[in-house]
Amino acid sequence: MVSKKRVAVLISGGGTNLQALMDAALEPDYPARIVLVISNKPDAFGLTRAARAQIPTRVINHRDYPDRTEFDARIQEELEGADIELVCLAGFMRILTPGFVTAWSGRMLNIHPSLLPAYKGLNTHARALADRAERHGCSVHLVEPALDSGPVLVQGSFAPGPDATVEDLAAQVHRLEHRAYPLALSLLASGGVTIDAAGQILIEGAPGPRILKS
Ligand code: GAR
Repeated sequence: MVSKKRVAVLISGGGTNLQALMDAALEPDYPARIVLVISNKPDAFGLTRAARAQIPTRVINHRDYPDRTEFDARIQEELEGADIELVCLAGFMRILTPGFVTAWSGRMLNIHPSLLPAYKGLNTHARALADRAERHGCSVHLVEPALDSGPVLVQGSFAPGPDATVEDLAAQVHRLEHRAYPLALSLLASGGVTIDAAGQILIEGAPGPRILKS
């Protein structure tokens, strides 16, 4: 029997990455179990996906809290209450406080729609198109306090076609994300991710990140 890490997924929207994680976690030998889904948006469709999979959900609306510290403290309370071991940010569109991020150092992943360190922040597909970037994709990384920073475990990468639109890029990135995130969580949960003395990430002993191509 594989020992399964208890995982919470934090979302703000449609939750297709959450769906990919929940689907992967159904495999008997997958090393993680999604046991809690938290959304800061009451109407996020990802909540419906979680409910369909009979996974407990919580809405913690950032508008109900006076500042980020209190909002993050409320999330922390839920994570501790559910004995969460790993956190996955999956389209969670809030910036977390350094204190919260540090508390989860090495145990919290984020997925970002670009080949980090390129295009941190928003509107990544439009910016890649405007630059005629030769390659675009997604990154799953350990979360550090600076925005969209931290060691990258897995990237999904493709060459945009000559006539690609923002919508085309978004769709291609999403398809790769749905492969990259389950792989990254599996690597982290199974202990396959280490950082060497020089601060370089190792994936099952080899210098990272692991690259997926479409
Ligand atoms: C994903 O493309 C993810 O990379 C992006 O939000 C989307 C969520 O989709 N995240 C960010 O932009 C974070 N900076 P989903 O709700 O269908 O999983």
